Amino acid sequence: MKVNLAIVAVSLLSASMVTPVIAQTSGAAIYKSKCQMCHLADGSGNKGMKVPAFSAGAPDAKLIAATKNGVSSGAVKMPAYAGKLTDAEIDAVVAYIQTLKK
Ligand code: HEC
Repeated sequence: MKVNLAIVAVSLLSASMVTPVIAQTSGAAIYKSKCQMCHLADGSGNKGMKVPAFSAGAPDAKLIAATKNGVSSGAVKMPAYAGKLTDAEIDAVVAYIQTLKK
């Protein structure tokens, strides 16, 4: 059991070292094709469509949950992407969103 955990830890570590490179490219591409029409290129939101800006400093986990499950607190619904994007794609697009926030 201890050995298996060590293997898991090592593979998670190496995955996290590789991810940023992939996230830059595919996260941006996913954002442009699926998110930008509501959230705008810079993530500032779209007042006319009642899409708010991404909350500054939100942790990855919160943005990942919002992307997976959707959000329906406002006038316009944020669609749920679980089943439409893979977990890896959602991680990548959220990593990209984090680069938009100033
Ligand atoms: C149809 C328009 C629309 C599309 C397309 C859309 N969103 Fe949203 N998104 C919204 C709206 C509206 C909200 C705010 C919902 C609320 O607060 O009730 C939101 C909220 C969010 C939030 C939570 C923001 C925060 O600061 O808590 C995240 C994260 C998010 N969207 C990511 C994405 C991603 C990633 C994509 C593309 C894969 C995407 N959205 C596509 C409309 C959209």
